[in-house]
Amino acid sequence: MEKERPSYLKAKRRTKEEVKVLTDAYIMNNELSKIGIGKKYHLITYGCQANVRDSETISAILEDMSFTKTDSMEDADIILLNTCAIRENAHNKVFGMIGRIQHLKETKPNILLAVCGCMAQEVSVVDELERKKKTVDIVFGTHNIQNLPQLISEAIDKNEQVVEVFSKEGDIIENLPVKRDSMYKAFVNIMYGCDKFCTYCIVPYTRGKQRSRRKEDILKEIDDIIKLGYKEVTLLGQNVNAYGKDLEDGISFAELLELVAKTNIPRVRFVTSHPWDFSDEMIDIIAKYDNIMPYIHLPLQSGSNKILKLMGRRYTKESYLELFNKIKSKIKNASVTTDIIVGFPGETEEDFLETLDVVEKCKYDGAYTFIYSPRENTPAASMEDNVSLKEKEERLARLNKLVNEYYKENNDKLLNTIVPVLIEGVSEKNEDLCCGYTDTMKLVNVKCPKDYIGKIINVKITEAKTWSLDGEIDE
Ligand code: SAH
Ligand code: SF4
Ligand code: F3S
Repeated sequence: MEKERPSYLKAKRRTKEEVKVLTDAYIMNNELSKIGIGKKYHLITYGCQANVRDSETISAILEDMSFTKTDSMEDADIILLNTCAIRENAHNKVFGMIGRIQHLKETKPNILLAVCGCMAQEVSVVDELERKKKTVDIVFGTHNIQNLPQLISEAIDKNEQVVEVFSKEGDIIENLPVKRDSMYKAFVNIMYGCDKFCTYCIVPYTRGKQRSRRKEDILKEIDDIIKLGYKEVTLLGQNVNAYGKDLEDGISFAELLELVAKTNIPRVRFVTSHPWDFSDEMIDIIAKYDNIMPYIHLPLQSGSNKILKLMGRRYTKESYLELFNKIKSKIKNASVTTDIIVGFPGETEEDFLETLDVVEKCKYDGAYTFIYSPRENTPAASMEDNVSLKEKEERLARLNKLVNEYYKENNDKLLNTIVPVLIEGVSEKNEDLCCGYTDTMKLVNVKCPKDYIGKIINVKITEAKTWSLDGEIDE
């Protein structure tokens, strides 16, 4: 039977059709569970936390099939690339990697290569991957991870390329297995997709219609991780504030957050919050519960009302600042980070100065800054891109300089204070140190015995750098 290929038209469509919750879509039988015996997989993940969480499911599925993990690409029998489509450079990285693997396959032709994730939802990418039949064996999208065992089995049996990508607004698939990267902190999806359609963004096309998970399913997953001793949960969604708007029981994100806080898991986090749906109830709940971390990622994108309108963000510079001030005044010690795009079509120097003005007013604890990258088939891609690359690069450098000053200034304020840190592991830079994050999401390298890994401890900050802090146990 001909498999489904992606379609831009279908990916864009939003209907009132009810979203189905499927609990038995993942099938693992005796035959499929033996395919990976004696074989190894190597999985590379690009992009955001949604992809990281998907990769945790992909790993578990492969291990259900008896594959074992390898960190070396050369050792693998199957290589999987879980891709991101958000900007052009994400694309380029993946095609560069495919080139490397093509090379590897010249000496090891039996390696299977699977490409999945958001790029696999793009029609033009799938067209190109189909031309690379000899290199790419399997292409699957973000809506059919549950079919991976059957796709691998088919690729091996037929010895030809297998492509399956659904673009219809997806269902919710429950009961997928998971092999988490960390033993202490866990990602839990609370919703999939996005209906905001910001004019520059490809996510509503690659991830489909907004679908909230039922609260029972979310709480069950959190209960499972609590039983396993996890200390932290991060609730994931492209716009968590809109959680529940598509559900019949009328539950809001503030209500869900309260239910999660009441599980008494030591740390609750959530990403991402769109300023548009940020309610006063949410702020009150975050302020009320000590186990909801005082950390909010609040993407600004631009400080210019003209550009915000062209982006379809539905807030103004003034309403953003009002929300920001409310958060800062009601939530004790709140740290706020942001995302900013420079060089959107039509952005003038004056518009850019408005962005810098917001950064000066908000003094962010951190910011992810990007040069606008046109994405095929999005409304912004057909706007005239009249800002030169040189100007875009200059604006990015000026923005980064300012952002970094505030990074350091905020870190300096923590010097000699005592902060709670969840110790996650050994520091990447120095094996003698452990590392972890504060309640406000700042990275700290800590001088402490390794048996503190997995515990939340009080740390005295002894040095503040731009990107991280140093500290020692406060006894
Ligand atoms: N759902 C999140 C964003 C996910 S994408 C939200 O709305 O906040 C992460 C960030 O990538 C965005 O906040 C935006 O700053 C950036 N981004 C998205 N599309 C982009 C594009 N076409 N070019 C440059 N940056 C982009
Ligand atoms: Fe993209 Fe906007 Fe949705 Fe975020 S809210 S994923 S930026 S469309
Ligand atoms: Fe990238 Fe897809 Fe996330 S495009 S940012 S991996 S939702």
